[in-house]
Parts: sequence; C-alpha cells; structure tokens
Amino acid sequence: MNALVLRGVRLYGEDPVDVEIRDGLIAAVGSDVDTDGAEVRDAGGLVALPGFVDLHTHLREPGREDTETVATGSAAAALGGYTAVFAMANTDPVADNAVVVEHVWRRGREVGLVDVHPVGAVTVGLAGEKLAELGTMAGSLARVRIFSDDGQCVADPLLMRRALEYSTALGAVIAQHAEEPRLTEGAQAHEGELAARLGLAGWPAVAEESIIARDCLLARQTGGRLHVCHVSTAGSAELLGWAKQQGIEVSAEVAPHHLLLDDERLATYDPVNKVNPPLRTAADAKVLAEALAAGVLDCVATDHAPHAVQEKDCEWSAARPGMLGLQTALSVVVRTMVEPGLLDWRGVARVLSERPAEIAGLPDQGRPLEAGEPATLTLVDPDATWTVRGTELASIAANTPYEGMELPGRVVTTLLRGRVTAHDGEVFHG
Ligand code: DOR
Repeated sequence: MNALVLRGVRLYGEDPVDVEIRDGLIAAVGSDVDTDGAEVRDAGGLVALPGFVDLHTHLREPGREDTETVATGSAAAALGGYTAVFAMANTDPVADNAVVVEHVWRRGREVGLVDVHPVGAVTVGLAGEKLAELGTMAGSLARVRIFSDDGQCVADPLLMRRALEYSTALGAVIAQHAEEPRLTEGAQAHEGELAARLGLAGWPAVAEESIIARDCLLARQTGGRLHVCHVSTAGSAELLGWAKQQGIEVSAEVAPHHLLLDDERLATYDPVNKVNPPLRTAADAKVLAEALAAGVLDCVATDHAPHAVQEKDCEWSAARPGMLGLQTALSVVVRTMVEPGLLDWRGVARVLSERPAEIAGLPDQGRPLEAGEPATLTLVDPDATWTVRGTELASIAANTPYEGMELPGRVVTTLLRGRVTAHDGEVFHG
C-alpha cells in the first residue's frame, strides 16, 4: 500500500489540516488522520491546489527534439505544478493523424510525469485547406478531444464551420488561434505607437477580434464548442463577454505573458519578447486580468513555446515567436492576480486547474481536494520568491522572457494520483 500523510497543509489557502493519501486517493482530511504505515511529510504553511492543467503546451516532439521533448516538457510541467498538459499539434510531422497522436500519447505514458494529451490538428498539415480525420484521432488510443491548428488560424470560415459541426458529434472542442492572416501579413509586433516608432509591421487587435466574433457566431449556428487560444486584447474580452451572455458555447484562455508583460518590452529589440499573438498594451493586460477574475476568460494556459537559441538570438524579424511558460505560470498568476487581490487561492485553483479540466472533459483532474477524490495536487509555498534563470529550467530551450526576474510563489511538490512527480526542483518518474 502506498500511503502518505501531508501535515499542516492549507487546502486552497485555508486553515492547516492533515491530508491522508492512500492508493492514489485522498483518504481523509482533518486533524486525526491515520498515519499507519504512511510516510509523513511536513507541509506546514504550504497551500494545496488541485494539480494544474495546461490546455496549451508545445512539446515539439516529433520533429524538434533539439528544443523540447515529451520527457523534458513533462519535467518542466511537473516542476511547474502541472499534472496534465495538452500537446499542440504543430509538430513535424504534424499531429493530424492517429499515428502521430498515439506516439505523443504513448511517450507521455512512458515518461509518466504528467498526463500528456495530444491535441489533433483541425486541417491536414495545418494547411487550412482540408479537414483532418478528426474522428479517427478521437477514436485512437489517444482519445483526442481538443483539435487545433494553433500557430495557424483556421481562417476559412467554411472549414471552421464544418470543424465545429463535427465537434458536436465527437464531444470535442475546436481551439482556435484567432488571427485573420490577411490582416497580419508580415506583422512583427502589436500595431501601436511603439511598433510604429521602431519600424516594425503591426499586428492589429482587429485581426484577433474579427476571428473571435466570426467563430462565436459559427459556434452559435452549429452548436459546436469553441475554445479561443491565447486571448490578447481588451476587445477580445469584450466580445467573449457578449458571446457568453448570449449563451454561446465558448471558452477562452489567456497566457501568463499577456497578463504580466506589455509592448513596452519591445524597446530593447530583444526577440525573447516576440510571441504570437504579440505583447499588447498595459491597458490590454489590465482588462485581461479583470476578465479572468470575472470568469469572462476561463483559464490560464501557458502557450509554452520552446525555441532553439539560433531561432531567438537573431534579428527581430527572423526570430520565431514564442516563450517558455510551464515553470513560471504559477508565479506570474500570483504576481498579476493574487497580489493585486483579483483572485484568492480558490480562484487560482479555478483558472489553473478546474476550468481547464472541465473544458477538456478530463474526469479525474481539477477535482475538489476532499476524501474520495484523486490525490492529484500541487503544493505551493506562497511566501517564497525565486529568480528565474532560463538555463536552470527543465526545458531544453531557455527562451524565458522572465530571465533574472524575481517572482513570487514557488511550486514545492506535485502529486499525480498519489505519486510524487516533482519535489524541490527534482522530478520522479513513475
Ligand atoms: O508564439 C507562439 N508560438 N504562438 C503560437 O501560436 C505558436 C507558438 C509556437 O509554436 O512556437
């Protein structure tokens, strides 16, 4: 029997209790739990939250194992407090068929640090021309339930309509990278004063907002389930608020970097700040944080996007968009949401775990921390601070925009179904 007792842990930041874990489940919560045969760990002062679920991770396997693999990305995830991640389909070859999604799924199981759920591509080769075989991927061992061409927008409205129609039959979600490509040709940075001054071609907010508006209407028309990836503008939040009021089946995520960083960062010309969608204005970031607190935006998803040194450490226009996020997400949420009083720890559990698990339809993640539920949880030291160093993160790539920043909140321990997967900076394979 595998038994563990956590002493003095603060569930959702509430008063300290002891938590007894047996055979992968929370057996009891209280002050007189059974320690018989159990390893007892002091968790005094630590906040327990349900394990985090990331709807948006780039694991780069297959094809770019020089930047990340299922193994290294899973390690970064476990260290960041995650117990499940969704691996985006823009790999090489693209995850647009059962063979590739089953490969990613199987590697996730072999590594055994987090549940790795492959996302399937919406269109063949992410080319936006022909629907991929969504049903075959859904029926594969990987049981794909989220489809996305992320990195590319499903720009053709007819294809998007068909994908949403199929999603209803499959019980699946279509996650859209909202970017009208005609409006972002050659775009390098948020279209605004700073980009104009630096001579960088602009990526206008309306390129995102026009696709969100269109797709919300298509979701209403089809009854399909739409999820909007990495929402980055105030106008997008406004549209999503409207759509939800209408009862349209739409959910949305915001990336940590769009909460904390803004386009002032471009002044350095450091491509570590290049990301798609781009860093917007400080006013956008403020509205996004408020929309997340209000539930207009459902959850935080990292858009963890590792890139090789030569793809980031070059001139701005040649650099690839994307930044690491798995090991810094919790800290950025503490900085942008908890410290200003926008979310308490219950709210953090909602945006990092419960809502993403619901959106993805995961039955055993994001569960309440109570007896009888899976012991899939994350222990956070709320008072600790740490300094981010890209080369010390578990990812192969090191492109963090938070290099040298001191951030609050540290993930101490991650448990997946009662098994410690990460503790004090180390990972433990199954
Ligand atoms: O910045 C980004 N990087 N945005 C995306 O949509 C794709 C991602 C990547 O794959 O690098």
